Amino acid sequence: MTGGKKLNGEVLISGAKNSALPAMAASLLTRGKSVIRNVPHLRDIETFRLLLQHLGAKVKWTDTNTIEIDTSAVNCFDAPYDLVRTMRASVLVLGPLLAKYGKTKVSLPGGCAIGARPINFHLHGMEQLGGKIKLENGYVDATAGRLAGAHIAFDMPTVTGTENVLMASALAKGKTVIENAACEPEIGDLAGMLRQMGAKISGEGTERIEVTGRAKLKPLEWDVIPDRIETGTFLVAAAITGGEVTVRKCVPNHITALLNKLRESGANVTEGEDWITLKNGGGLKSVDIKTSPYPGFATDMQAQFMALMSLAEGVSVITETVFENRFMHVGELLRMGADITINGNTAVVRGVKSLKGAPVMATDLRASASLIIAGLAAKGDTLVQRIYHIDRGYEKIEKKFEGLGARIKRIS
Ligand code: EPZ
Repeated sequence: MTGGKKLNGEVLISGAKNSALPAMAASLLTRGKSVIRNVPHLRDIETFRLLLQHLGAKVKWTDTNTIEIDTSAVNCFDAPYDLVRTMRASVLVLGPLLAKYGKTKVSLPGGCAIGARPINFHLHGMEQLGGKIKLENGYVDATAGRLAGAHIAFDMPTVTGTENVLMASALAKGKTVIENAACEPEIGDLAGMLRQMGAKISGEGTERIEVTGRAKLKPLEWDVIPDRIETGTFLVAAAITGGEVTVRKCVPNHITALLNKLRESGANVTEGEDWITLKNGGGLKSVDIKTSPYPGFATDMQAQFMALMSLAEGVSVITETVFENRFMHVGELLRMGADITINGNTAVVRGVKSLKGAPVMATDLRASASLIIAGLAAKGDTLVQRIYHIDRGYEKIEKKFEGLGARIKRIS
């Protein structure tokens, strides 16, 4: 891309990857045809489709963003290493398969670029619901009779851990209480799906969720929520280039923490029912951020915001509290002329006058978004390599940025 152009115009936000993935997993709780709408076309969705097909389900796109999943013929219950290692969200089949079929073998996901990312909380939750868990040869071997409701308290909020327990408890006998549950909007979306399938659920979006399971659940028919991280990514891109951008088909109150930080740094942010407009006449001020579980500042927005702060006026202290290694984008931003010092889980970002385009390497999904944002503002050309990382979580990202006036193209 060639940076330096203000972004102007409107962009439509796609459905949330991190809501579509649990929705696809939830279809395993029934035998029948489920329909999920507003599903973004992403690598991770394709990977999950392959996994469901490996289990014996039939999965097809029935229109641009609608997926139909027929689980009537599911006859295999293992999630192999070669699929799980490319996408750790595959672990979301653990709860549904154990609850529905009483057996599953899921490869341990292993670490990834941003951290070790164990799944001990998931496994402990399954055991409390009555699952027998054995770990051998890098696989979780889980068996159970009918699961029974339990009182589960997570040591710390875990998004997919909460999702696995929610799905398993929807078929468990009796009541399950989840304490210290994750409160992300995607949890609320999954709770809505499970309720529509027949489970009795209350408290989603708070730290205490109650579920009363059913012996059988109906197939799912659902529209997933808009992607709050894609929304934030485009707003930050508008802020860093000094333009005026409206994002449509989004949910403003899913990113309140980010909107407040953008306003604090001097951007003019207005919002409506399903749209947000950001206008930035230029010259943002540095602000500090500290990531934390929802409703705090999203860890998935940290890398993008750091790119913005690298051109802000002053010094910004960025603290990452959720993952232990989520500063992979710093090295590449430094190569573009940013002034950032890392000290443990804190990065001190001193604003510079300008960034310079450079060939850079994407390392993980959100780090690649951060490099694109930096490239859109940098003087000269930037080439982002390994953009398969970005295709995991953003639908047609270069087309959407082109639609806002960016000089960006994909070099296949
Ligand atoms: C989800 O990952 C998201 N992925 C991540 O988005 C997101 O960054 C993360 O939540 C935090 O918001 C999906 O929803 C598919 P966690 P998840 O369990 O569920 C530790 C993206 O960019 N932990 O909430 O894996 C863990 O190591 C991705 O789309 C345990 O120790 O995150 C981390 O430090 C990246 N043991 C913290 O908890 C466990 O059993 C929070 O992780 C589980 C988690």
